[in-house]
Amino acid sequence: MDAHFGMIGLGTMGRNLVLNIADHGFKVCGYDRSEEQRTRLMEEGKGKPISTASSSAELIRNLKAPRVIMFLVPAGKVVDTVIGELLPDLEKGDILIDGGNSHFVDTDRRYTQLQESGIHFIGMGVSGGEEGARFGPSMMPGGDEDSYQLIANILESIAAKADGEPCVAFVGNGAAGHYVKMVHNGIEYAIMQMISEVYGVLKNEGLSNAELHELFADWNEGELQSFLIEITAEIFRTKDVDTGKDLIDLILDKAKQKGTGLWTSQSALELSVPIPTIDTSVSMRYLSALKEERTQLSEFYVHQNKKTENDTELLKKHCRDALYFGFMMAYGQGLELLETASKNYNYNIHLPTVIKIWRAGCIIRSLLLNDLYDAFVQQPELKNIIGSSVFIPTLKEKRNGLVNLLKVAMDAGVPALTFATTLGYFDAYTQERLSANLIQAQRDFFGAHTYERIDKEGNFHTDWGAKK
Ligand code: 6PG
Repeated sequence: MDAHFGMIGLGTMGRNLVLNIADHGFKVCGYDRSEEQRTRLMEEGKGKPISTASSSAELIRNLKAPRVIMFLVPAGKVVDTVIGELLPDLEKGDILIDGGNSHFVDTDRRYTQLQESGIHFIGMGVSGGEEGARFGPSMMPGGDEDSYQLIANILESIAAKADGEPCVAFVGNGAAGHYVKMVHNGIEYAIMQMISEVYGVLKNEGLSNAELHELFADWNEGELQSFLIEITAEIFRTKDVDTGKDLIDLILDKAKQKGTGLWTSQSALELSVPIPTIDTSVSMRYLSALKEERTQLSEFYVHQNKKTENDTELLKKHCRDALYFGFMMAYGQGLELLETASKNYNYNIHLPTVIKIWRAGCIIRSLLLNDLYDAFVQQPELKNIIGSSVFIPTLKEKRNGLVNLLKVAMDAGVPALTFATTLGYFDAYTQERLSANLIQAQRDFFGAHTYERIDKEGNFHTDWGAKK
């Protein structure tokens, strides 16, 4: 009757969030179909203001009005099933929060449907994995601001803190919360892929896992400081409990995915926003999954994979600069996509707010986000970070590192596709004249699609190939 917060889905994320909420003095009731998960929550939450319910109706009975119910269940049909089960017992003014990685298109539909029944619906991205959920995630709620205000005190108290500020804020209208989280994940894919490309190059140069651990730990003390660099350092020193060998060497090189990277690319293509660093990182996961094909083909195409005659210390510096440059491009592409989506879908997303709540708790948190925040505050109309007066000198300098890393990678036959794409993206974006004039000529040649000229206004067609 008197719980402040209901949670549906008591998997790892759900249970940890419940414990986090309870630690902040709120009474929480959890529901999961699985009795085992409910029992686990009660064991883990001994002594805390936590109860469980064995049906959604019982959960609703256990909550104070207006009821606040969050679900952390797999994206897709399950979310509709959960909402369908709750609806008959809900009342106007109750608040539902979808904290999973739902596709923004689904969230849009659910938001509109629930609005008709007077139920507040908040699509909220939650980032930070198990540890984040337990001790402070970054949360990206969207919907309508009045609904957010009703739960702001709970979310702000459980969120990660950056410079004392909670990493949660209302990010925008309708499905904005899930859109922002989707883009967060697209950036996550890109950063992870670039780190793994650096690993590939440095491993080929002969660096041991212990040396890689040292290097990443060192990088994490400087401008690359970030969660993903930090955990990479840890990964390189982790031993397999069964064999005592370095665990990283025993892991199959096939990267899996749940779809948020793909959705980011799909949405960007639809909105005509170039985000090739993110696209390529998604493609590289697909390429990695072609293990059998790669194994067969490797018999025909033997790569040199040779250690090049490099100054290893210099190469490490190039890698660090390339990563910095790559991080910037990944954030820049994601933020440009967010801005465009916000205008197209009327999300009203405020980029500095998003950057601020990514500074702690989430997977893509990094020191660099502080500078990115300053850049967007100084130049609110900034279309892409490449144009930021704060970053122009740095990007010019770091580009050199990327070029040198790519030279080594290509010479050694080590794939660094995401970095190569990133360099091409930057070079194209910063070039006054591209070769697209030829594409226009070709289109007009075979399809009379017309072209524009640089010396006069209008659309022109030429009778190409002079039929004599
Ligand atoms: C987070 C993560 C998380 C995501 C995993 C797995 O912010 O905590 O983004 O939400 O589900 O990273 O994603 P993939 O399985 O697609 O790699």
